[in-house]
Amino acid sequence: VGWELQRSLSPLGELIALDNDSTELCGDFTNLPGLADTIRTVRPDVIVNAAAHTAVDKAESEPALARSINALAPQVLATESAQLGAWLVHYSTDYVFDGSGSTPRVETDPTGPLSEYGRNKLEGEQLIAAANPRHLIFRTSWVYAARGGNFAKTMLRLAQERDKLTVINDQIGAPTGADLLADITAHAIRQVFQQEELTETTAGIYHLVAAGETNWFEYAKHVLAQAKQAQPAIEFKVTDIQPVPTSAFPTPARRPHNSRLNTAKLQRTFGLTLPHWQVGVNRMLAEIL
Ligand SMILES: NC(=O)c1ccc[n+]([C@@H]2O[C@H](COP(=O)([O-])OP(=O)(O)OC[C@H]3O[C@@H](n4cnc5c(N)ncnc54)[C@H](OP(=O)(O)O)[C@@H]3O)[C@@H](O)[C@H]2O)c1
Repeated sequence: VGWELQRSLSPLGELIALDNDSTELCGDFTNLPGLADTIRTVRPDVIVNAAAHTAVDKAESEPALARSINALAPQVLATESAQLGAWLVHYSTDYVFDGSGSTPRVETDPTGPLSEYGRNKLEGEQLIAAANPRHLIFRTSWVYAARGGNFAKTMLRLAQERDKLTVINDQIGAPTGADLLADITAHAIRQVFQQEELTETTAGIYHLVAAGETNWFEYAKHVLAQAKQAQPAIEFKVTDIQPVPTSAFPTPARRPHNSRLNTAKLQRTFGLTLPHWQVGVNRMLAEIL
């Protein structure tokens, strides 16, 4: 997401992108005083935070580190941006919910995280809201990008290596492109700055995922069919793809079964339309194949 933001935000003004390894200015989310110093030096109009401890299973065994990166560092960003009257844009997750039921969650629905990651992302949301009223928090799910590893790339590789694949079919959500997240972020920031009357009422949490829904099994089948259509020469060894329940792949962190997020608030507030998840996945496949 951070990579895509560097593209989508660059036309909006001077952009300073920092990460863990930045040397002149601290971008290390485990160094809270260093982060505060960076903001006091740069004095930004907007901070967009794409950094996170996203290793959901690892977070179970290193909760203090995950909390520092996902909750305490965002609190520092919020406190420091509030001092400057600046906006803070942040990303959160469907994992703040317990995943029960089968309807799409709205922003005001009760939370109930099942994992350390979900708990510290939720705490991050709460600490931001308490420290800086000028915040936008986008809860998203199942993020992929052409750059780096992703589920589609893993399925394409496994389908070329194995005869048989088993894929989970009882988690429902919407694969969402990092490029879409970055583009919507840029549109939202522009609107917040252009429409003064929107400023305080627009702040808050928004659900931001591609339209439609699927499960990992159907997602995998779509990726393989689409890849074959785009690249008829591609050879798949796999002849048998079976759906299995989540329980077939035990993991340290529990994951929600229902990751559906209702995006009506975002589409209404910002006058934007969220494309179907297959549009973005097909585009990503065209890019990587
Ligand atoms: N990926 C998903 O499926 C998903 C789903 C829902 C919500 N989200 C949220 O979306 C946002 C963007 O996630 P993403 O998918 O882009 O995740 P990602 O690819 O894992 O990127 C997270 C970034 O955070 C950086 N980071 C980790 N520890 C850091 C530290 N101590 N200091 C500074 N930077 C650090 C990582 O840098 P290194 O690479 O150098 O470690 C990485 O560049 C996050 O808020 C995430 O919680 C993601």
